[in-house]
Amino acid sequence: MCGIVGYLGKGNAKSIVLEGLKRLEYRGYDSAGLSLLDEKQNQFNIYKEKGRIAQLEKIIDLNDARVAIGHTRWATHGRVTKENAHPHQSNNGRFIVVHNGVIDNYKSLMKTYLPDTVFHSETDTEVIVNLIELFAVKKTPANAILEVLKLLEGSYALLVIDINTPETIYAAKHKSPLLLGKSDKGIVIGSDMMALVNTADNYLALDDETFLRITPKNFTLYNLEGEVLPYTMSLLDLDDFSSEKGEFEHFMLKEIHEQPAVLRRIISKYYNDTDIHIDKILLEKIKAHDSIHILAAGTSMHAGLIAKDLLESLANIPTQVHIASEFAYQQPLLKGKPYFILISQSGETADLRACLVNLKKEKYQTLTVTNVRTSTLAREADDYMEIYAGPEIAVASTKAYTAQIAVLATLAYALSDQSFDLKRELSEIAQAMEHFLDKKDQYKDLVAATLTKRNCFYIGRGLDYYVCLEAALKLKEISYIQTEGFAAGELKHGTIALIEEDTPVIAIISNRKTADNTRSNLNEVKSRGAKTLTITTESLKETDDQIVLDDVNPSLSPLLTVIPTQLIAYYAALIRGHDIDKPRNLAKSVTVE
Ligand code: F6R
Repeated sequence: MCGIVGYLGKGNAKSIVLEGLKRLEYRGYDSAGLSLLDEKQNQFNIYKEKGRIAQLEKIIDLNDARVAIGHTRWATHGRVTKENAHPHQSNNGRFIVVHNGVIDNYKSLMKTYLPDTVFHSETDTEVIVNLIELFAVKKTPANAILEVLKLLEGSYALLVIDINTPETIYAAKHKSPLLLGKSDKGIVIGSDMMALVNTADNYLALDDETFLRITPKNFTLYNLEGEVLPYTMSLLDLDDFSSEKGEFEHFMLKEIHEQPAVLRRIISKYYNDTDIHIDKILLEKIKAHDSIHILAAGTSMHAGLIAKDLLESLANIPTQVHIASEFAYQQPLLKGKPYFILISQSGETADLRACLVNLKKEKYQTLTVTNVRTSTLAREADDYMEIYAGPEIAVASTKAYTAQIAVLATLAYALSDQSFDLKRELSEIAQAMEHFLDKKDQYKDLVAATLTKRNCFYIGRGLDYYVCLEAALKLKEISYIQTEGFAAGELKHGTIALIEEDTPVIAIISNRKTADNTRSNLNEVKSRGAKTLTITTESLKETDDQIVLDDVNPSLSPLLTVIPTQLIAYYAALIRGHDIDKPRNLAKSVTVE
């Protein structure tokens, strides 16, 4: 959601920033812009376009530059227009700004400080840049920016250029992610590690309420009082999983296929022959609590539901799952000694950050389970566990979901006194995933024949129901088919009224205990005209079942049953010609509440 990239140094700032912005495309955006130093004219040119970065590239008439800042916008304040796209320039032209985040008090700042200013966009960002201009009349640019930062309420990652000192970029961060990368060629700054790839050797993930003055060779870090802060850079250690599409037509298809490898990687990171590699101190810390509360959003919340089941059944710890955006503002009554697990692929989700800030104030212990070890939620929780899924580029999350479940299963197991061979179970699941994916081509026609309506239902019970919730989210977000995941037994209490001729109903049946009941529910919808499709396992299959998976440990079945549902969503979107990796209105990293 919104992306920022800035660069100064040797090399072509234009292509470094455009390349960085493209790497952030997966976060989701609806317009893009760039400001480049035109050295011959000694001025900054600004280019903006609605739509994709490819459109923006077409209008840039400068070849080279040593300084550039760029932005991809996901509209929050104001419509998707060229005027609202960043960069924004102050009215006398002196300052140029790109901004991620939301300034909650921009209207009152406008009224108090800029009552006569004419604004050219509907954005909160234009208020920031004009405030800097106002304060810079009497102060140095750095002091003017610091003064503005102290007035801002909300979140920001900000890059500022003062055209009077073209070889300096000012940057600031609060609640929106920002990382600085350095090499001997120059300095890159971006809202995501992906923006630093190929340009930096070392990086610094900035803390909240920090401010930077960056020149081509160096930078100084300050707090908002203008005091210099110490810092330590870390080595930028790129993941083994490539962030290119390779042989696959879409990132989503590639990421679906990576799941067996991700499971094996988790095994290699967390298991050896006799032991599990999870910090004993962390395990003791969790055991000292009497309940677990999982906080997450979207797909990660669905992984949390499976984790709840595992933590209760294996580790015997009462566990509840909460939607982060609800918990942040309506914290339930917490009794005893609760422990908190935050699940987030990106580690940047603003709803979770809001929860974490409160939990820290209340002195609760927190653990973040994330794919991005440098992320805000990983840094700010007491502990973190990495899911090792590698970069997930498609907006629709696939491999992060299974990786989250596998890591949380490992945690649940480590907290338990069980002694079955989880490592073997996970590697059997990896094989079963591959076995299914080898046959994937045969399912495209099945999807075309089944999903003929603009709505669809997934039904199941227990863990299968939890997978139905994720399956429905995946289908709706990329195919735009209105889909609901339903507890199969609950259909007859109202929702069955929606079933008519050819309504698609997909059942997931992987548990012997509930298989017969779910089949009865499937028959009930079939006899009302529904077009049904069944996903089941070898030992539970019946003659007409269309998708049959290998048998695996039933308590881990979601790791396998979710795979065909990801593929169903993929094919449904492919058949409809949608932009699979970048579905409309969605962002990969949801950094606003
Ligand atoms: C759906 C999807 C979202 C995310 C949600 C939370 O495919 O990706 O529902 O799961 O926005 O994001 P993270 O896990 O980054 O906190």
